Amino acid sequence: MSTVTTPYYVTTPIYYVNDAPHIGHAYTTITADAVARWNRLLGRDVHFLTGTDEHGLKVQRAAEENNCSPIEWADQTVVRFQDAWRQLGISNDDFIRTSEQRHYSAVEKLLQACYDNGDVDLQTYEGLYCVSCEAYFGEGDLNNGNCPIHGRPVEHVTEENYFFKLSRYEQALKDWYETHPDFVVPVTKRNEALGFINQGLQDFSISRTSIDWGIPLPWDPSHVTYVWFDALTNYITAAGYVDDPQGFEKRWPGVHLIGKDILRFHCVYWPAMLMSAGLAPPERVHVHGFLLVGGEKMSKTRLNQIAPSDLVDEFGVDGVRHHFLHDQAFGPDGDFSHEGMTARYNADLANNLGNLLSRVTTVVTSKCDGIGPAPEQESPLRRIVEEEYGHIADAWERIAPSDALDATWRIIRETNAYLEQAEPWKSDPGPEVDAVLGNALEVLRIISILASPAVPDACEEIRRRIGITDDAEQQLPESIQWGQYPAGLAVLKGDPLFPRLK
Ligand code: ME8
Ligand code: MG
Repeated sequence: MSTVTTPYYVTTPIYYVNDAPHIGHAYTTITADAVARWNRLLGRDVHFLTGTDEHGLKVQRAAEENNCSPIEWADQTVVRFQDAWRQLGISNDDFIRTSEQRHYSAVEKLLQACYDNGDVDLQTYEGLYCVSCEAYFGEGDLNNGNCPIHGRPVEHVTEENYFFKLSRYEQALKDWYETHPDFVVPVTKRNEALGFINQGLQDFSISRTSIDWGIPLPWDPSHVTYVWFDALTNYITAAGYVDDPQGFEKRWPGVHLIGKDILRFHCVYWPAMLMSAGLAPPERVHVHGFLLVGGEKMSKTRLNQIAPSDLVDEFGVDGVRHHFLHDQAFGPDGDFSHEGMTARYNADLANNLGNLLSRVTTVVTSKCDGIGPAPEQESPLRRIVEEEYGHIADAWERIAPSDALDATWRIIRETNAYLEQAEPWKSDPGPEVDAVLGNALEVLRIISILASPAVPDACEEIRRRIGITDDAEQQLPESIQWGQYPAGLAVLKGDPLFPRLK
């Protein structure tokens, strides 16, 4: 089996800096993190990006309300996202802020390329604007006169704006979707994007004169760049579009993970902007649904936003990560509930994984003087690992973490069942008991690799307890070939990895 060395560039949306991080943001970011970790295990050269969207009217107004400048406000609020991601063990390689100089340079370069290609012109615009979306709506899009997403009143705006000639890219986008059937996944979301294109595309405004907090247009600095044109560009800024041509060549096009609320921007506007500048559209856009709380979308006005840190206090970092990855399938909407989260924690983490570790380490202590025996070359567990690995690898490749973890946990459950049948705790010490425990230790070693994208801290602790003290090779698929747990390591009993919750 060969190592995959292709670069893998994966991104989350950049979140609005003045919002407080909630579990919706955490959901996308944890998923991207797990996918990045999986691809690192495959030996890929991974570049994982997240960050914050800092320009636009929302931030400017929040700054005014707080009596500071927009950049001061952004500097104060960005740390909430940085802290949240640090707490959740997010392994991003870069964190982009759209207020950074490198991003100004990239936006200027992209704008200029579109402009030079004849895709930008000046038009008068009149429309209904939702500040929360930073987007215009038509009368027909509104819900009782309110924004269909936020349920808040829209504002009537008249402006002379520069427009991006999206209408010119209608055919090119249709052709792109035709020749790239996996451009947007799942297929329901692809159809939604394509349906939007098929309705006919209208040019969209890419500048504002009514605000100052933004990136001035290179050819007319009396306008600042529309926040969405600015925000989408972050993905190429951080890939090195301006400052690292070699890196850019290697990384771009990348893979985007987004929620369904921002599909139109990523699946229609963004590929057209890139085409205009002579750049490749993204490799793929993976779109997920909303996490709902009590059946409703989270919002500040409904006061049903849940902070990830509150859940970490109760379930631990791995408990939170595992729940979002395993219980909330990537694609459809999913209901978040405290009961569901507790049930998943107890079933998968306390009863299955935690119990397996504590049984094995306890019996190795009592029957083998705490020294781990070797696995057998042939074992029914070997077959299970080999079979499930195929499902696991396939699922991570499709960005279906819940399927990947189903298969991972089948290995754990089968190993518990194997132990319950062999009952090594009832037998006298000897070669038979050694073989059973060696096999179980080998599964724990393998699980400590396969489950690490979801529950990295627990996996590190498992390795420590089964005596793997060095940074043993974890690259897939070589590292999970059966039989590598070496005999003779000191195995440690310890506190429950995941204490049961009431
Ligand atoms: O839209 N369930 O930022 P944003 C699941 N700055 N995911 C959710 C969610 C929920 N209830 N709520 C939010 C923006 N998300 C722009 C993006 S990108 C160039 C610019 C996640 O702070 C989901 O990933 O409103 C969604 O797409 C994103 O947060 C929106 O974050
Ligand atoms: Mg939003």
